Amino acid sequence: MQSIAEKDLGTPARLSAKTVTLSIDDREILVPEGTSVMRAAALAGVAIPKLCATDQLDAFGSCRMCLVQIEGMKGLPASCTTPVAQGMKVTTQNKQLADVRRGVMELYISDHPLDCLTCPANGHCELQDMAGVVGLREVRYGYEGANHLKAEKDESNPYFTFDPSKCIVCSRCVRACDEVQGTLALTIQSRGFDSKVSASQDNPFMDSECVSCGACVQACPTATLSEKTLIEKGQAEHSAVTTCAYCGVGCSFRAEMQGEEVVRMVPNKDGHANHGHSCVKGRFAIGYATHPDRIIKPMIRAKISDPWQEVSWEEAIAHAASELKRIQAKYGRDSIGGITSSRCTNEETYLVQKLVRAGFGNNNVDTCARVCHSPTGYGLKNTLGESAGTQDFDSVMSADVILVIGANPTDGHPVFASQMKRRLRQGAKLIVADPRRIDLVRTPHIAADFHLSLRPGTNVALINSLAHVVVTEGLVKEDFVRERCEVDSFEKWRAFVANPKYSPEAMESVTGVPAASVRGAARLYAKAGNGAIYYGLGVTEHSQGSTMVMGIANLAMATGNLGREGVGVNPLRGQNNVQGSCDMGSFPHEFTGYRHVADDAVRHSFEAAWGVGLLSEPGLRIPNMFEAALDGEFKGLYIEGEDIAQSDPNTQHVTAALSAMECIIVQDLFLNESAKFAHVFLPGSSFLEKDGTFTNAERRISRVRRVMKPKTGYADWEVTQLLSNAVGFPMNYTHPSQIMDEIAKLTPTFAGVSFELIDRLGSVQWPCNAQHPEGTPTMHVGTFVRGKGKFLVTEYVPTREKVNAKYPLILTTGRILSQYNVGAQTRRTANVQWHDEDRVEMHPHDAEQRGIIDGDWVGIASRAGETVLRARVTDRVQPGVVYTTFHFPESGANVITTENSDWATNCPEYKVTAVEATRVAQPSEWQKRFREFTNTQEALVKQADVFVK
Ligand code: SF4
Ligand code: SF4
Ligand code: SF4
Ligand code: FES
Repeated sequence: MQSIAEKDLGTPARLSAKTVTLSIDDREILVPEGTSVMRAAALAGVAIPKLCATDQLDAFGSCRMCLVQIEGMKGLPASCTTPVAQGMKVTTQNKQLADVRRGVMELYISDHPLDCLTCPANGHCELQDMAGVVGLREVRYGYEGANHLKAEKDESNPYFTFDPSKCIVCSRCVRACDEVQGTLALTIQSRGFDSKVSASQDNPFMDSECVSCGACVQACPTATLSEKTLIEKGQAEHSAVTTCAYCGVGCSFRAEMQGEEVVRMVPNKDGHANHGHSCVKGRFAIGYATHPDRIIKPMIRAKISDPWQEVSWEEAIAHAASELKRIQAKYGRDSIGGITSSRCTNEETYLVQKLVRAGFGNNNVDTCARVCHSPTGYGLKNTLGESAGTQDFDSVMSADVILVIGANPTDGHPVFASQMKRRLRQGAKLIVADPRRIDLVRTPHIAADFHLSLRPGTNVALINSLAHVVVTEGLVKEDFVRERCEVDSFEKWRAFVANPKYSPEAMESVTGVPAASVRGAARLYAKAGNGAIYYGLGVTEHSQGSTMVMGIANLAMATGNLGREGVGVNPLRGQNNVQGSCDMGSFPHEFTGYRHVADDAVRHSFEAAWGVGLLSEPGLRIPNMFEAALDGEFKGLYIEGEDIAQSDPNTQHVTAALSAMECIIVQDLFLNESAKFAHVFLPGSSFLEKDGTFTNAERRISRVRRVMKPKTGYADWEVTQLLSNAVGFPMNYTHPSQIMDEIAKLTPTFAGVSFELIDRLGSVQWPCNAQHPEGTPTMHVGTFVRGKGKFLVTEYVPTREKVNAKYPLILTTGRILSQYNVGAQTRRTANVQWHDEDRVEMHPHDAEQRGIIDGDWVGIASRAGETVLRARVTDRVQPGVVYTTFHFPESGANVITTENSDWATNCPEYKVTAVEATRVAQPSEWQKRFREFTNTQEALVKQADVFVK
């Protein structure tokens, strides 16, 4: 069902420079060529009755409700499928039309339950509305004939109901699943009276290919497909537009509310990142905010073996501040630090780094973006001049060839994946470089032209051999390179990649990819017209992550694929605010906008604004904090919204470092893995409880709007402010908009950003300043941010993590659609029905050699540790490679990952761990200790009355 607040113009907008003038019920209207009569009428303020049409889907013309008369045309054409023409004269209302529409409606209603008053859609049902519009008073056929009124409901999906008795077979759901989502899970089965909507092969929704994105629910004009929350709670009373707090797509939603309670999240048609689409997480998985595990009161304890004690906010903040001051007095200024979060808003992140730099007096601040996209910042800054992706998402609709490297968009960035799939169905070519056969390689109506199934850890070898083909086969866009790039650096790079050692043939034994495929893929991309690269953590989370990002930028520059629509280098950011947390100065060496702390002019501007002296030396990165803690030099840590004990590599090393500290302050929604080592717990607020902004993978800054009061009493930014005041560095903001104003004043790329601007435009992509007052959808147009693009030599250096007889397999990791990162939120929703444990995927050949069958418990041992997971035997992974997700703490995926990291940024090498797999009968030693420790910690909080009611 459409959201109550949205107007539906019937058919999608048409983009045409040519316009057409026509008259509708004697009203003149000018519209782009190709517009439907129905949409033109809606734009002229004339609502034509409709059922099967919606402006989110191409017109279909099945219901015959929208018939009109057009002067000079025979019969009564359907206005939704009839395009406008110059001088056309349309009549939408007369007796003949009214009679026909009433007759059509009568047939619908004769096979529809008459339970409007108790129906969840009552008052918001398009069928009900249309019955009113056409003036249906009685049904002449009676209700006794054959009908579908007893059709059984399908309640299998945890979030929505399918009640076929209410279905009018308009096919909107089927088309939404095809056109918007691209899953093609639904069909109309049979014909005529017997026709019905069915999921996959007439399965319950839960057993079908449905991925629960909600597009069909959104499209359904009746209550056939309805959110269960809507059925339980009834219609919303008010709504506010906000931004999803899960992934870096940054979908816009309308939170529909009853008082302080969310009735449902409806994707916003005006959302610039999602255009009205959603995935199962943002659309449905919000129950974690009221899950009984959520803690809403502050707590303290002296030792981690002590029970937690509920205290007032005043006491918690005073205790935290006095501990931090005590530690600094005893161990020195640099003995404490803070970690910001890519889950929190820009304003909150900015405040944490400000607290560390100005309040703690050091630069010991880092962010969880360290462990995902820090190489993106480094690699793109050094080649192109800006640490961010180059395009907006809509740019993909102009791409001719799409090269996806080390990303799994259908699981990790589902709404963008749907858009990408739309472009691929239109005919764009696809190259996938991934060790695993991700869904995109073969999905309905899409097949990758090349799947470069490389060995984990050989990205740089692959990008160099792609580049080798480009430079040795005369595929370089010489004009672009001469005009836009540093020619010296190009010549050096050209000579480097032209070396026969990087030929696809020479590299085949390294990458495992047939040379012919590399040559074919390189030619396809270079000759594309518009070639667009999208990449993810499969690029960055390697010992050569930064090198690979530079290699990608080199390839894009050499082929002229930058600086316009349809091309570009596009990092698919993991978390909702990874881009923002990096932009906000969360790294120890950088202020906001990626400016080094050693830059005197920049530092002085912050000193002047904050009224304190600041250090010109970078502080500690997260891994350095752990080392310093184990050396007894780092003793206090403030962690806002990140769970390093689960998300960082080599868990046993991390927990040893946490155990060595004297005061750990965790600000979070739940007693997460890190909080089990904490001394102060400051309850956090969910995205529904605060104002602020998130910045998505397109550099798009969108508003997060408070739809309910913070359940803890304070939003996260207020808590940081309280702590800052208590450590002696005063902050006096009364609203997050003031924090953004300060960011804008101090950051050239944000100079024009304000809440007022975002509210006016809906969202804005930085840079946003005097040159780009309404933001910058495409970067590097005409010239690169650094002036001339710089090619950098990208020597392939194999990772130190080698397979050998003891550890013969390579483990690589990734995410799954229904769960999210450490799973703290999604595990506390019905999304567990899709994925309730992490499994290790193993090729049938490797499984057979080890006597492992699907479902067996498998011990995975690496040089760092051992864990036990159940096996999934599948040929999605290549022989020699095993794969797992990492959404459940007890899986211990990071017990096995090592401390190897990117040479430039310390981003951990999560994607390559040498392991052995053996069939086992019981959990690993670590898992037994983990369970025991978890039980103890849970007991220490159980008696405190701190949970949400
Ligand atoms: S389920 Fe809804 S959208 Fe689908 S055919 Fe039936 S009425 Fe139309
Ligand atoms: S929820 Fe999404 S995937 Fe499932 S049937 Fe509906 S549109 Fe298709
Ligand atoms: S694609 Fe990402 S931002 Fe959009 S709804 Fe899903 S999780 Fe949220
Ligand atoms: S709305 Fe035009 S035929 Fe259904």
